Amino acid sequence: MRRRIEGRMKDSKDFFKKTKNDNVRKELKYFINKVEHKTGKAIELGCGAGVNTEYLIKNGWEVIANDIEDVESLLKERLNEEELKKLKFVRQNFEEMELEENDLVFACNSLPFCENDKFQNLWTKIEKSINVNGFFVGDFFGVKDEWYGKRKNMTFLTREQVFRLFNNFEIIDFNERNNMFPKANGEMKHWHIFWVIAKKIK
Ligand SMILES: C[S@@+](CC[C@H](N)C(=O)[O-])C[C@H]1O[C@@H](n2cnc3c(N)ncnc32)[C@H](O)[C@@H]1O
Repeated sequence: MRRRIEGRMKDSKDFFKKTKNDNVRKELKYFINKVEHKTGKAIELGCGAGVNTEYLIKNGWEVIANDIEDVESLLKERLNEEELKKLKFVRQNFEEMELEENDLVFACNSLPFCENDKFQNLWTKIEKSINVNGFFVGDFFGVKDEWYGKRKNMTFLTREQVFRLFNNFEIIDFNERNNMFPKANGEMKHWHIFWVIAKKIK
C-alpha cells in the first residue's frame, strides 16, 4: 500500500514537472478573450501545476484552486504579492469538497478522475455552486477513449450524457476530440474528449 502511494506521488511529481511550463488551455484563452469580459470568483478543480489558475488570476479573477496533491508551492511561485491575494488553495478530493458560490468553474482534464459512482453527485454540486449567468469551462472523457473499460475508477460519458449535464445552461462552445496525441510523458494515447464552454441560465 505504502509503495503504491509513493508510486502515485512520484508519478504526480513527474507530471507536474513536465506540465509546469505547459501552454494555457486554448479553451480558457478563448473564454477569457472572446466570451466573458467580466471577472469574479472562479474555482479550478484539479489545477495541477497551475498554469490555468495563473492565467485566470493575471486576468483579474479570484481563484480557489483545488487539487488532491500538494501543489500549493507550485501555484505560489507563479504569482507576485498582489496576485497571491487572489489565490486560495484547497488540497482535497473534489468529490468531497464544498464548493463556494462562484462565477466560473474551470476543470480541465480532471473531472474524468472522479469515480464513476460519485460523478453525478459531483456534477450536482458543481452546477449548484455556479451563479446564474456564471460559466462552466471544462472537459469530459468519452467512451471511445483508450482508457475506457481499463480504468474502472474513472468517469467516461457519451456525447448525450454530456449534453444532459447542461440542461440548465446555454452551450456556447462544444468540441469533440477523438484522436491520437501524446500524453505529458510523450507516449501516444487515443483520447476522446468533449470540451464545453457553457453559461448557466437558470
Ligand atoms: C491530468 S491532470 C490536469 C491538470 C490541469 N488541470 C491541467 O490541465 O494541466 C489531473 C489533475 O487532477 C488532479 N486530481 C485527480 N483526481 C482528483 C480528485 N479526486 N480531486 C482533486 N484533484 C484531483 C490530479 O492531481 C492532477 O493534478
